[in-house]
Amino acid sequence: MNPAERIAALRAEIRRHEDLYYLQQAPEIADAEFDALMRELDRLEREHPDLVTVDSPTQRVGGRPVEGFETVAHAAPMLSLDNAYSEEELRAFDDRVRRGLAAAGPVEYVAELKIDGLGIALTYENGALVRGATRGDGTFGEDVTSNVRVIRAIPLSITAGLPGRLEIRGEVYLPRRAFERINREREANEEPLFANPRNAAAGAMRNLDPRQVARRGLSAFVYEMVPSGPAAAAPSRHADMLHQLQAWRLPVEPHWRVCSGIDELLAFTHDWDEARQALDFDTDGVVVKVNDRAARDRLGATSKFPRWAVAFKFPAQQATTLLKTIAVNVGRTGAVTPFAVLEPVKLGGSTISLATLHNEQEVARRDIRERDTVIVEKGGDVIPKIVAPILSKRPDDSTPWRMPRTCPACQSDLRREAEEVVWRCMNASCPAKLQRGLMHFASRRAMNIEGLGESLARQLVESGLVRSYADLYHLKDDPQRLIDLERMGRKSAATLLDQIDRSRGSELWRLVYGIGIRHVGERGAQALAASFASMEDIERAPVEALETIRDIGPVVARSIRAFFDEPRNVEVVRALNEAGVNMTGTPSSPVTHGPLTGKTLVLTGTLAAMTREEAEAAIAARGGKVSGSVSRKTSYLVAGADAGSKLEKARALGVPVLTEDEFKALIMKA
Ligand code: IVH
Repeated sequence: MNPAERIAALRAEIRRHEDLYYLQQAPEIADAEFDALMRELDRLEREHPDLVTVDSPTQRVGGRPVEGFETVAHAAPMLSLDNAYSEEELRAFDDRVRRGLAAAGPVEYVAELKIDGLGIALTYENGALVRGATRGDGTFGEDVTSNVRVIRAIPLSITAGLPGRLEIRGEVYLPRRAFERINREREANEEPLFANPRNAAAGAMRNLDPRQVARRGLSAFVYEMVPSGPAAAAPSRHADMLHQLQAWRLPVEPHWRVCSGIDELLAFTHDWDEARQALDFDTDGVVVKVNDRAARDRLGATSKFPRWAVAFKFPAQQATTLLKTIAVNVGRTGAVTPFAVLEPVKLGGSTISLATLHNEQEVARRDIRERDTVIVEKGGDVIPKIVAPILSKRPDDSTPWRMPRTCPACQSDLRREAEEVVWRCMNASCPAKLQRGLMHFASRRAMNIEGLGESLARQLVESGLVRSYADLYHLKDDPQRLIDLERMGRKSAATLLDQIDRSRGSELWRLVYGIGIRHVGERGAQALAASFASMEDIERAPVEALETIRDIGPVVARSIRAFFDEPRNVEVVRALNEAGVNMTGTPSSPVTHGPLTGKTLVLTGTLAAMTREEAEAAIAARGGKVSGSVSRKTSYLVAGADAGSKLEKARALGVPVLTEDEFKALIMKA
């Protein structure tokens, strides 16, 4: 098979798997296998740039950050929907529609799940996706094409050659699984959690760097088509239009149904109020639309809403309870965050006794106080939230809550950076920080040491048995001290020591994740371990080399570098190494294919902005080789200040010479 044929075959195969994954929710291969197909296509396209097409699956990822989003006008206003909060209100809507249409019998509706995401308008021109815009104020939105292109559920082209201009409307959302992963990573990094998938999706769409957006794992559903031009000779019924969108392989949420009259509609809303829990996306209601397009036109719209549709909202799950106290928690990085201790209350099938309060500002802004009676709600949010205090029930002697200014664990003063809202304990040996760090190190997704939970971590730290992660591996030297701990005993001590011993052989990524580098979650750790052969290589990698890795952006790269620039952290890793913990892996995608693949560079003189090692690593990260001497085979000589004989030789042989700026431009471009 020649490269062009292989590229075509790979693209077809990748699209087929995208369809299976996003449209049919029935993947046939694991994510890693899919990634391998993408990598092969990416490599072939880099080797044959003339074969790259704009709708190749590789063209979704890797766009450069944009300066800002431009304002664009929508083809037709993006109206919002009127809401119905109860059965009565839905019946009233049906009454209005029947009166408006002077209908004798039941009206035919289409009921769709209301996706709790962000409205989006997609423009296809002659079948190619040319624009994605947010709803904005309904008349003007923001051009977020660069971000929309990285959403794999949205095809870059539909039914090749489809003539004319077509605007498709839908919703961008974050699947629950992706949301949980992101929040797990944020929790591990002690970053504020997203309250719900919608907020996380909204944050992603506002991001100016499409590479970061790609990492979020957004998805989309479409539900409307704005007719204009021959492409969209719109079907006369909404249901047919949905079939049409499906036939174009656009992602239509599959659970929509044609309902005849109000009773069928009510049955649909009842069924989904329960069944929605099992979906991989948040839905906050059912959108009811008149099926017949001509009837829609007759009903028309008010200035804000169409009269032919309504959003029925599922009732919120709320309860009232007493907020007993506001306590604070000290995290692994020292972040001190308040949370509410509640009188336990039943809500949506579980008992709730804690609720997050995010930070000091949030408590003050919402004036939440100890001994308040509060309304708690469990919506799409993972963590129950406090909707509001009931002021009429507030005790007379109540006072505003004050954030402590000292660490509850070590009593050292808390500090807050100028731009931040989070107070932190800066004491490097704070026992609470170490305890949280140990819990993270031992957690299932890191070194997976079963049995090392909150209570044991606290005892290990308080007793002085563990002062650094590596001390875990020395516990076996004096097992009696472990046995003496509360609720320990001989047998569980032996099991724990076994678990600890076994964890020595954990894969490299688990260790990278477990040592708690800020911003490095499971995915980031896996990406690092897939690109470097050892912890030592990661430790030495310059920011430029780290940034070239898929899944590692500039912020993460800088954070990794900062972590290893801190001697205390290097010491922690060294001690683990000495304790016999595995520090190597087998990189599955070493950075060998890059824009400098096949090129040999020679460095001479002194570079102002980077060390020799950093320059070498930047070249290696892009697939190039570094040689010590100039020959006819040298692709470029990079000449810094005070370059000597190598420069003369390069000139004599006609080898291209790059200044430091030209070299930087080359590696930035690459
Ligand atoms: S139709 C003129 N269908 O909900 C009708 N909207 O609260 C346009 N939404 O602005 C909207 N799922 O962003 C429609 N199946 C669905 C929807 C849906 C979610 C959003 C949409 C709309 C908002 C109104």
